[in-house]
This record gives sequence, structure tokens and C-alpha cells, in this order.
Amino acid sequence: MKSFFFAVFLLSTLISLPATAQRSTIRSGEIWPDDTGVHINAHGGGVLRYGDTWYWFGEHKSEHTSDALVGVTCYSSKDLVNWHNCGVALSVTDERGHDIERGCILERPKVIYNPVTKKFCMWFHLELKGRGYGAARYGVAVAERPEGPYRFLYSQRADAGTWPVEFGAQELAVADTLNEANYKEWWTPSWRKAVGQGLILKHDFGEGQMSRDMTLFVDDDGKAYHIFSSEENLTLHIAELTNDYLHHTGRYTRVAPAGHNEAPAIFKHNGTYWMITSGCTGWAPNEARMFSAPSVWGPWTQHPNPCRGPKADLTFGGQSTFVITLEEGKYIFMADIWRPRHPIDARYIWLPIGFENNKPIIRWQDEWNF
Ligand code: GAL
Repeated sequence: MKSFFFAVFLLSTLISLPATAQRSTIRSGEIWPDDTGVHINAHGGGVLRYGDTWYWFGEHKSEHTSDALVGVTCYSSKDLVNWHNCGVALSVTDERGHDIERGCILERPKVIYNPVTKKFCMWFHLELKGRGYGAARYGVAVAERPEGPYRFLYSQRADAGTWPVEFGAQELAVADTLNEANYKEWWTPSWRKAVGQGLILKHDFGEGQMSRDMTLFVDDDGKAYHIFSSEENLTLHIAELTNDYLHHTGRYTRVAPAGHNEAPAIFKHNGTYWMITSGCTGWAPNEARMFSAPSVWGPWTQHPNPCRGPKADLTFGGQSTFVITLEEGKYIFMADIWRPRHPIDARYIWLPIGFENNKPIIRWQDEWNF
């Protein structure tokens, strides 16, 4: 009998071991268990600091599909290594025809805190159920507490009926002459030029600009921005948010027209804005890109790939999603190693950002801590 109880005790210790074992290092690309011992399920995510706690939000992914069957998950941590599973922050719904109906595509959620309204504001890329990637919308949700529950507010295309701030009378006159029929073939020099001049902006002017891969950024002055792949993922847009962080103001600028950038992740160091992006190859990794600017409004300059080490030309097998700012000079690059055939098994890359000749670099490390 005694040995039976001992066996039960031993078994229960073993079962609960992964749940209680504290980790002390970040190991990119490996299984990252939460406090219940299960691999963290928060992909395409971002991290918010609120008080002394970090909150990691991301896409819940399932065994066989990347479609949203659950919604946005939230994890909390005091040390950025050991994460408590807070459950579902924004849930998809079974209401038919709802913007976030179960089975929609809900990607790259990011949350920022608004100190004036004291609300947590979540933005994400939304594709309506059954329409592939055609809707190209952003969605907005809000909560009273960081971990939620978040209340869905609305989803839409961006900046309908508005030109970017840099489009003055001259640019508008050029855009006016553009005729889509003359640019049926993509990637020719004249097509690239026309995209820069607003070919696709003009096409989507009435309906609103496409809004896919995205992030949010709050500047030191409290102004917040929504940064997203627009114009068929060819051009990044940076749109200013209203003071409550729940809408666009209508002021926006474009970055690298026809540059085909996705997966934007942004941070500010010594007054310079740095943005890391990827190319557009779906779930397959490609070489990271990097841009800098003296102001959110540009001008944005492209720099070489910041990655160093094995598979540096493929972002170590991953795709950027967010940069965590720990303090001035200390940043963490977050990326996803997608597993499209087994989405729930997608892995995370977290690496510290260093500086070489005053430019950010990301060096691969198997294991590191703060
Ligand atoms: C990637 C994008 C992901 C997801 C995927 C779908 O390029 O960054 O968020 O949309 O394409 O193929």
C-alpha cells in the first residue's frame, strides 16, 4: 500500500513538473512551455508592459489550420521567460456573418494602453470568413483590463477617401492621370513607378486602403500609430491614431512604395525610428529588411539585413512580428517560425538587438538571458 501511495506521489510530481519548472533562458526555435507545461500559443504576437507585468498577445493556432478557431490569446510574465496562460483575450464568435466569426483569419494582434481613457486597445489584421485574404481589413477591440476580455468594436479598410500626407497638388495631378489598364504587367519599371505615384492607392481610394500585416507603435509624446502592409502588400502605410487609440485620424504616410514589405516591427532608439520587415513569401521565411527615419513621417531609408549568424539570410527561418523595448538601448526582436502544416507547432525567435556602427544588428544565439 505504502509503495502504491509513493508511486502515485511520484507520478503526480512528474506530471506537474513541467508546469512548475522555472526557466531562466530564452531558447529560440524550441518548444516554449507556459505555466501549464503547454507550448505557448500566441503567434504573430506583440508584448505590452503594464505596471510590473508583461503581457504577450498573439494568434491562437490550431493543429490543422491557421484560421481563427479561438481568437487572440494572452500570457503574462514578470520576467519575459516564464509565462502564465491568461486564456483567450478576444474570442471569435459563432454568430453567422459577424466580422470575427469563427473561421475568419485574425492575425498579428497588438495591444497598447491608453492612459487617458485607461483602456487597452487591440488592433489586428482581419480577413472575413470564407473570403481568403480579400477583405484586407484591420479590426479593433477594447478592454478594461490587459488580459481582457476584449470587446470587438469594428473592422474596416483604412483611410477611405484620403490621400497620404505627402500627396500635394502636384502628386494628386499625377495620380489623376494613372490608368490601371496601362499597367497590367507587374514588376516592370514603369509599373513600379506608377505604384509609387498612387496606382493602387487610387484603385482603393473609395473603398479604403488594404490593411494586412501590422503592428502598433506609441511614441514618447503619447501619439500612437498603426503600421500596416497596404496596396496589395506592396507598400507600408503608417497611420496616426486618434487620442483614444481606437481610430485613424486620416493622416498617414507611405514607406517604400512597391517595396513589398510585410511583418513590420518598429522601435525608437536615440531619437531614430527603426523598422524591421520581411519580404512577401507567405509562411516561408525570407531575408529581413531594415529601415530608419528621423521621424515617423519619414523620410525612411533602407539599410542592409540586420541579421547575423546561421540562416541570417532567412531571418533564422522566421518572420518579424514585434520589437519589445525593455529600456532605452535594450530591445528584443520577436519573430515567428511558421509551421503551416502544423500551425500550433509554430515556434518563436526572441533575440536581443545589438548595435554595430550605430545600426541595429540581430545575432543568433541558441540560448541567452537578460
Ligand atoms: C505572411 C504573413 C502572415 C500570414 C501569411 C499567410 O506573409 O506575414 O501573417 O498572413 O503570410 O500566408
